[in-house]
Parts: sequence; C-alpha cells; structure tokens
Amino acid sequence: FGPKPLAGKRLVLTAGPTREPLDPVRYLSNHSSGKMGFAIAAAAAAMGAEVELITGPVALATPAGVKRTDVGSALEMHAAALELAGGCDIFIGCAAVADYRPVAANEHKIKKDGDTLSVEMVKNPDIISDVAAMAARPALVVGFAAETRDVEQYAKGKLARKGLDLIAANAVGNGLAFGTDDNQLTLISKDQTQVLPQASKAKLAEQLLAILANRLSEH
Ligand code: C5P
Repeated sequence: FGPKPLAGKRLVLTAGPTREPLDPVRYLSNHSSGKMGFAIAAAAAAMGAEVELITGPVALATPAGVKRTDVGSALEMHAAALELAGGCDIFIGCAAVADYRPVAANEHKIKKDGDTLSVEMVKNPDIISDVAAMAARPALVVGFAAETRDVEQYAKGKLARKGLDLIAANAVGNGLAFGTDDNQLTLISKDQTQVLPQASKAKLAEQLLAILANRLSEH
C-alpha cells in the first residue's frame, strides 16, 4: 500500500448522538461526542477515500475533504444513511443511535402539571442492519459496540444479528470511550478477534482503516 490505500473508495459513516424530540423545546439524547466517527472520517479522507459523514449534533469541525450531512433524529439519520450508503465500499456505523423515540413529539411544550410524567416510546429502526440488508449492500459493513460489561459476547451477538462484516467493541467506563480522546478496540469478525490496544482515536482510526483497506483488496 502507498500512502493512499483508500484511493478510489467511497466510505459512508454515521457519527454522534441522535436527538429524539419530546416537544418543541426538548429532546432525549446521549453523551456521544462524535469524536471516534470524526477521527475515522478524517483518517479515511487522508487515506484517499471519498468520505460522506452523516452526523448527529456534535461540537466538532468537519475534517478536511469530508462531505458532511447533519441530521437530528434517528429517523433522519436512517433516511440519510439509506440514501447515501448504496454501493459504497465501506459503511461504518459509529453513531450512538437512540434505541427508542417518543411515539409522537408533543405539538406544544409539555407542562409540569402532574407529579409524574409518562412518555410512551417506540423502537427506532436499526440503521446499520438496514444498510447491511440493502440490495446495493456496501462491500464492508462495520459496526461499533459500546458495552459496560461482557463486551465480546454482546459484540458477537450484534455482529450476527445485524449482518455485519466486522464489529469494533469498546468498553465504556474506566475513563475510556464517550467524550475521551483515547479508546481501545477489539475488532471481531466471524472467524477472527484482534485487539487494538489503547491509543488516541486518531491512531485507532488509521489502524482500523488499514485493516479494512486490506480486506477490500482481498474481496
Ligand atoms: O445495538 P447497539 O446500539 O449497541 O449497536 C451498535 C451498532 O449499531 C453501532 O454501529 C450503531 O451505530 C448501530 N446502530 C444503528 N441503528 C440503531 C442502533 C444502533 O445503526 N438504531
């Protein structure tokens, strides 16, 4: 490989959190910073790929050479992903997609009338599963799994259930993952497990993409 191992390849990825509207002024979300996804987008562009980054609301600058699509809710991210992912070489799901959304956002601001408040929620579509099932399926579909326990076991389940080629598992907690600059990844595919030791997200992004470039060349 030269310095541009992803030249001529198209990579689409999701990053950041999603926001699920409760009413016109409120939403449900999570602590994803988007840093891992943005690091991958930056590294992929530097490695020569055409990069489409679909991101939820984050406080990060768009990396050089990356085409960015901003979305809010999981449903918006789902629509953008299905529109952009068809026929690409690599799809990476880095986003921390909300599992559920309020059944319907209130038309008006919810008033604090009662001592308790119940909100009925409905499951969001699984974006990466739907991408992996597309007719024009990307050559490689890669997921992330942030777990607080039994990391490998849960990751293996997701790999199979979602129809992925590879899943990058990371342990949340002990100062790693959400919002931090460092991470540690265990790459799990059907017949291989590979540990990328703790490093900056930029460094891990490069390592992950080098492995994916390698896989594409074997395709
Ligand atoms: O099931 P879980 O959310 O832990 O799976 C994580 C992987 O699935 C990540 O790659 C994430 O981006 C993706 N995902 C998705 N759509 C969802 C939920 C998760 O694409 N609704």
